[in-house]
Amino acid sequence: MNESTPLLLRALNKEKLSTPPIWFMRQAGRYMPEYRKVRSKFKNFMDMCKDPDVCCELAMQPINAFSLDAAILFSDILTIPDAFGLGVEFIENKGPVFKSPIKSKDDIHNLIGFNPENLSYVYQAVANIKRALPENIPLIGFCGSPWTLAAYSIEGHSSKDFKNTINFITKNTEASHLLLSKLTDACFLYLRKQVQAGADVIQIFDSWANILDAQQLNEFSFNYIRPLITALKNDPVTSNTPVILFARNPKCNSKSILQTSADCISLYWSMNDFDHSLAIGKTALQGNLNPEILLESKDIIKKETYKILDKFKDFPGYIFNLGHGLTPDICPDKVKYLTEIVREY
Ligand code: CP3
Repeated sequence: MNESTPLLLRALNKEKLSTPPIWFMRQAGRYMPEYRKVRSKFKNFMDMCKDPDVCCELAMQPINAFSLDAAILFSDILTIPDAFGLGVEFIENKGPVFKSPIKSKDDIHNLIGFNPENLSYVYQAVANIKRALPENIPLIGFCGSPWTLAAYSIEGHSSKDFKNTINFITKNTEASHLLLSKLTDACFLYLRKQVQAGADVIQIFDSWANILDAQQLNEFSFNYIRPLITALKNDPVTSNTPVILFARNPKCNSKSILQTSADCISLYWSMNDFDHSLAIGKTALQGNLNPEILLESKDIIKKETYKILDKFKDFPGYIFNLGHGLTPDICPDKVKYLTEIVREY
């Protein structure tokens, strides 16, 4: 890759760079007044996701505000369960709520087939964002991991510990595996369509990896992420599209996360025992800064950011990001300050 290749793609190619590319998980969202203004025009969050022009506007907001090195598709991971007919709604202060969550083995057996065409509003958003972006800014498409999508589909709403889901997969293990394989096939078709529409990179969000113990994590999550990545690598449409894997605080050793064959591992902020030496030349790394640091003073932000940059300065292929998403209470000025000090470092 040469000097004119976008920084994000060079880092994903495991090149050592003097300045890392910068983007943020949840870079488009409620912390931005521009976002809140658009959001106020919609009663339902999903209706907003179904409008490709609005999705394009929202994805461009953080690019215009902070000159980031990548855009991420504006959508949500719960579009797939919605397309399976589970009826996803977002309720103020409660988050996602499913009208028809999965309650039994029969619900899994009777699930309608996934038709990727039902999510054409997402691919249209990808195409619109790609057209709006400058040529040197890559676009990240995404999906939830099969496990994280299954957890929401069974629990029916957000939860601290997803107790009902853990009970369900323990009692209905075989049917749970069937659900996970249906979701894996759906993720593959969905990501393939996003790449066809213009996504340059893919990120898989395993946001509820943290609720599984090491054995369950392998059985219910990584056992589906691995074949999903293999299927992407074996398909001519997606074979050259780098895949980033974000798993929230997974209870596993560094080796098992590397065995997913993701091109990049996005490190949760508390994942401090991850062995970087095992990743050198195998995968790029991303993230690791605690998003709560952005609620502190500029001095503290600088100190903590420099600690992260010191840690990864010799690593071939580091992408600057947070260890989880930006939250609504963060001030946009601090986000701007963060990008400036990373580039000055
Ligand atoms: O710039 C971006 O990243 C925007 C695109 C995006 C959204 N959600 C928009 C969104 C992405 C990549 C996501 C991923 C997503 N969605 C994840 C994985 C990332 C993570 O944080 O671990 C998860 C778990 C979800 C599910 C989800 N979506 C929840 C639990 C909620 C409600 C709670 C919350 O964080 O707001 C959402 C809603 C949501 N998705 C909002 C946005 C901007 C806020 C909705 C609003 O404005 O009312």
